[in-house]
Amino acid sequence: MFPTHRPRRLRAHPQLRRMVCETVLTTSDLIYPLFAVPGNEIAKEVRSMPGVFQLSIDKIVEEAKEVYDLGIPSIILFGIPADKDTDATGAWHDCGMIQKAATAVKEAVPDLIVIADTCLCEYTPHGHCGYLEVGDLSGRVLNDPTLELLKKTAVSQAKAGADIIAPSGMMDGFVQAVRQGLDEAGFHDTPIMSYAAKYASAYYGPFRDAAESAPQFGDRRTYQMDPGNAREAIKEIELDIAEGADMLMVKPALSYMDVIYRVKEATNLPVAAYNVSGEYAMVKAAALNGWIDEERVVMETLTSFKRAGADLILTYHAKDAARWLAAQS
Ligand code: PBG
Ligand code: ZN
Repeated sequence: MFPTHRPRRLRAHPQLRRMVCETVLTTSDLIYPLFAVPGNEIAKEVRSMPGVFQLSIDKIVEEAKEVYDLGIPSIILFGIPADKDTDATGAWHDCGMIQKAATAVKEAVPDLIVIADTCLCEYTPHGHCGYLEVGDLSGRVLNDPTLELLKKTAVSQAKAGADIIAPSGMMDGFVQAVRQGLDEAGFHDTPIMSYAAKYASAYYGPFRDAAESAPQFGDRRTYQMDPGNAREAIKEIELDIAEGADMLMVKPALSYMDVIYRVKEATNLPVAAYNVSGEYAMVKAAALNGWIDEERVVMETLTSFKRAGADLILTYHAKDAARWLAAQS
């Protein structure tokens, strides 16, 4: 007996495969993360993230131009301040690193969409994403006082020119607080991309080298989600939608493909996936050892995020992917 149904018929020729391809990755899907540090002419490679650099504002501007010329529509900015304090002053100050970087980038490359990461962990000495009770060594961030700081941070980022605000601290009610702050300050048209389902993940390790934001004690499990939970992600996104989020993010991406899929099924808002630092580091390490084909692994992974339901992908591979996509066409 020969098979009647022969899926291989449609795989016989490259053009035929192109015609029936269900998921196409494009440069428009990519968002490139950048880390702004104080100083001038600084480009310091992150130990655990080959090819990723902490950059001073002048270098951020150069990088932004390159990103734009590659056809990538957007960057997300993280800031590493000169000084840290318990009020996270560097986060909400008008001369903060993200604020300065946003202003400089928008002046040099007005059509590049600048997303500001809105969190406090880079700016506090203890490395937690908000206020702690004095003397607390467990890392139980105080929710509501932290909202006030996030609000202030978002408003100053919008004032500095940020096009999209991305609150990432996983505080309850943070989308509502940020929305209210933006509206009160007249930024009714500034969208919020919420880190809606963000897990307490070991895959953030290299990022904490890059952003110098590792918690000095305790961990983030009282605010970030338990990796075993998927239905809870739907609860989180429902709340964020009700609070006014315009886009939703799932983070990390690779071990949370099912969550990306479920979130996409549950909402019609754009869904972003954050291909995080540890995912990048693993691919880079294997590639540098000659153990995998970096281009093919990266393109397969990014395409898979789209297949799972992501409309947008935040990734440290964005510049490489844009070059590879350009070479294909
Ligand atoms: C914290 C924050 C984290 C990342 C971005 N913002 C994680 C964390 O330290 O808890 C991770 C990004 C990455 O790993 O690439 N607000
Ligand atoms: Zn944080």
